[in-house]
Amino acid sequence: MPRWCGKLGAAKAKGCDEQMASRIIPVDPFDLVVFGGTGDLARRKIIPALFRRWCAGQMRDGTRIIGAARSERDSEEYRALIGDALAEFAGPAARDADAVTGFLAILDYVTIDATGTLGWSELRDLLNPQRVRAFYFSVGPELFGPLAERLHKHGMADGESRIVVEKPFGNDQSSAEALNRTLTTHFQEHQIYRIDHYLGKETVQNLMAIRFANMLFEPLWNSQYVDHIQITVAETVGVAGRGAYYDHAGAMRDMVQNHLMQLLCLIAMEPPAKFDPDAVRDEKLKVIRALDPVARDDIVRGQYLGDSANAGYREDVGNPDSTTESFAALRVQISNWRWAGTPIYLRTGKRLRARASEIAVVFKETPHSIFGAEAGRHRNILTIRLQPNEGIDLDMTIKEPGPGGMRLVDVPLDMTFAQALGPEAQDVPDAYERLIMDVVRGNQTLFMRCDEVEAAWAWIDPAIRLCEDEALPVLPYDPGSSGPEDALALMHRDGRRWREIKP
Ligand code: BG6
Repeated sequence: MPRWCGKLGAAKAKGCDEQMASRIIPVDPFDLVVFGGTGDLARRKIIPALFRRWCAGQMRDGTRIIGAARSERDSEEYRALIGDALAEFAGPAARDADAVTGFLAILDYVTIDATGTLGWSELRDLLNPQRVRAFYFSVGPELFGPLAERLHKHGMADGESRIVVEKPFGNDQSSAEALNRTLTTHFQEHQIYRIDHYLGKETVQNLMAIRFANMLFEPLWNSQYVDHIQITVAETVGVAGRGAYYDHAGAMRDMVQNHLMQLLCLIAMEPPAKFDPDAVRDEKLKVIRALDPVARDDIVRGQYLGDSANAGYREDVGNPDSTTESFAALRVQISNWRWAGTPIYLRTGKRLRARASEIAVVFKETPHSIFGAEAGRHRNILTIRLQPNEGIDLDMTIKEPGPGGMRLVDVPLDMTFAQALGPEAQDVPDAYERLIMDVVRGNQTLFMRCDEVEAAWAWIDPAIRLCEDEALPVLPYDPGSSGPEDALALMHRDGRRWREIKP
C-alpha cells in the first residue's frame, strides 16, 4: 500500500512546522516485534508512539510492526484492536483516518507461546534477517528469559537483532544479575536495550544540555557552592489497577531504584568526554558506586489514605495489612571529591498535591552580607522543571524596588521552554517515541547498561532491607498532601526545607 503522504506532508498534518519536519531523519526499513502486543503498555504507549513516528515521516516504506501475543487472532483482528487503541491513546493525530489506515497496513500479528513452541517458526519466516529486527519485551519479567532463549534458538538473535527490556529489571541485585546472565547468554550487551522511560523525556535530556553546554554552571557545580539538591517526582495518581505489581515493588523499587536514580546520576555525574553511550554510562555508574549506604534515619516511608473521592492505598491494592510504601523520601550522600558534604534529598509519591517533577539545586548563601542581618538570608536556587510546564527557574536576589533602604527580595528568572522556544517546544516526541527510534538506530546512550542496573540495586537493596527487616514504619498521609510530616522533618533537622509541591 502506498504511503499516505510524504515526510513533510505527514509531519505537517501532525502539526509540526516545516522547520521541524525538515529535521526528521527517516530510518531504513526495519521489523519491530512487540511481544505482549495486545497488552496495556503496547496499546497505551508503544504502538501510539510508533504511530506518531510513522505520521512524522520517520519510517520508510517496507517497515513492519508485528504484534505477538498468546491469544489467537489474525492480523485483521489485530489491526482493529490497534485502531481502537490509537483512537483512545494516540492523541489528535489519530483523528486523521487516512493516517490511521496507512499505519495499520504495516501491522501484522503472530500468535505465539512465549514458553512453548507455538508460533516461533512463523515469526522467523515473517522477518527479514537483512535488516534491523527489534524485539520489544512488553511482557511480565518472568518471560524475559524464555523469550530471549527462543529468539536465539530460532535464529533471530544474530546480525542486527536487538531486544528491548522493560522494567522491572529484577527485584533485587541477585535477580537482576541472574536476568543479565540469561539475556547475555543469548544476546550481546550491545543488543540489549534496558528501558527507563525517564531517560527519553525531553527535559531529562535537557539536564545534560544545561550542565554541559553552558559555561555558567559548571564552575559552581560542587559542594563548595551547592548547599544541597532536591529531586522530587510527585504524582497525583494512585496505584489502582496495578496493585498486584505495585504492592510487591513499592516506591523504592518502582521509582527510586530507576527513575530517581537516573535523575540523580545526570545531575551529579562528571562531564563525559563525549556524548556517546559508554562515555555517558561510565560516568553515571561512577555516581552510583560513590553513593553512601542510606542510614535508617534518612528514610521516610508513607502510604496514602483514602478520602471521599478515592480509595486509600490498602484498598487500591486489595491488601488490608499492606506495609508497602507509596511514598519515599531519602537523604543521600555521594562520597566523592565533587559532592562530599552536599546532601541530596529524594522524594517521590503517589496521590500527592500535584503532578510535579523537578530538580532544585540550592546554592549556598554568600559568605558575607554587606547589607547586614536585617537584609535577611538569601540564596540562589536553580530549578529544572521536568514535568509539567517544562523549563528552568533561577532564583536571584535583587533589591526590592522603592524606598525603604536596601531591602532584598528573591525573584525567579523564569524560562518556560514553551514560551522561550515557541510551538516546537510543545511538539516534541514523547519518551517512548524517542527511545524506540534510538533502538532502531542502534544508539544506547539513553538505555541502562548491565553494570549500571546491578549497581543501582546493590545500593538500594540494603535500604529496602532496612525498611523490611527493621520494620521501618510506613506512615499514613492524606491524599492531596505533600506526604507524611516526617518527610518534612527529614529536612528540618538539617535546617533546610522542601520546596512546595505545586502544579
Ligand atoms: C512508571 C512507574 O515507571 O513511571 C509508575 O511504574 C509511575 O508507577 C510512572 O506512575 C511515572 O511516569 P511518568 O512518565 O508519568 O512520570
